[in-house]
Amino acid sequence: MNSKMDWAYSEKLKEHFMNPHNILEDEDSYHEDGKGIVGNMKCGDQMMVVIKVDKAKGVITDCKWKTYGCASAIASTSILSEMVKGMTLEEAYYISPKDIAKELGGLPGHKIHCSVLGDKALRAAINDYYQRNGMLDKIKKQEARVVCQCMNVTDKEIEDAVLEGARTYIEIQERTKAGTVCGQCKEDILRLLDKYKKKHFAEAKQKNLSN
Ligand code: FES
Repeated sequence: MNSKMDWAYSEKLKEHFMNPHNILEDEDSYHEDGKGIVGNMKCGDQMMVVIKVDKAKGVITDCKWKTYGCASAIASTSILSEMVKGMTLEEAYYISPKDIAKELGGLPGHKIHCSVLGDKALRAAINDYYQRNGMLDKIKKQEARVVCQCMNVTDKEIEDAVLEGARTYIEIQERTKAGTVCGQCKEDILRLLDKYKKKHFAEAKQKNLSN
C-alpha cells in the first residue's frame, strides 16, 4: 500500500489549510459591523464570516470566519479573508469563487463548490452591515432563485456549474451539492441543466459558425 498522500492541491492551498488565517476565536469579544452565516448543518458545511468596516470610507478593515467545512472551504475562506481587507464593500461583494480559486493557485474542479460557502457568507455579512446601518438601498437583492432548499443552491449556481463543465445530474451534485439530501429538487435541476446546456452550447455553436 502506498502510504504517501497524493496531494492534488497547490502549495498555497495547503499552506492556508495547515495555517488558516483570521479564524474567529472568540465570537463574544469580536464586535463585528456585519455578520453572515450560510450553509446547512445537515452535511456539516456551515460558514460564518464577520467583518469590520471603516464607515467613512466604506472599506473592509478586518475579516474573520469560522466553519465546519472541508479542507477546501477552510483554505478558500482563509485566503478570502486576506483578499478582502482594504477592499471597498462594493469590490468585496463581487469576489467570485473563481477569483478565490485563482488566488489559491487552482482548486480541483469538484472542490470549487466549497469556495462558494465563504463568498456567500461574505455577501451576507456585507448585506448585514448595510442593514444595521440603515443603508437599505445598498442591499443587493438575491436575484437568483433557490432551487435546492436543502443545500441552498440557486439556479445561478447551477448555471455556473454548467459553465464550469458539469453536464450531468451527478456532476451538478458533485459541484454544487444540490440534490444530495432529499432529492425533491431533481426534476427542477434536470430542467435547468437542459436549459443551460442549450443556452451556452447553442451560443458557442453560433460563435463557431460566425468565425
Ligand atoms: S431540495 Fe434539493 S436535496 Fe432537498
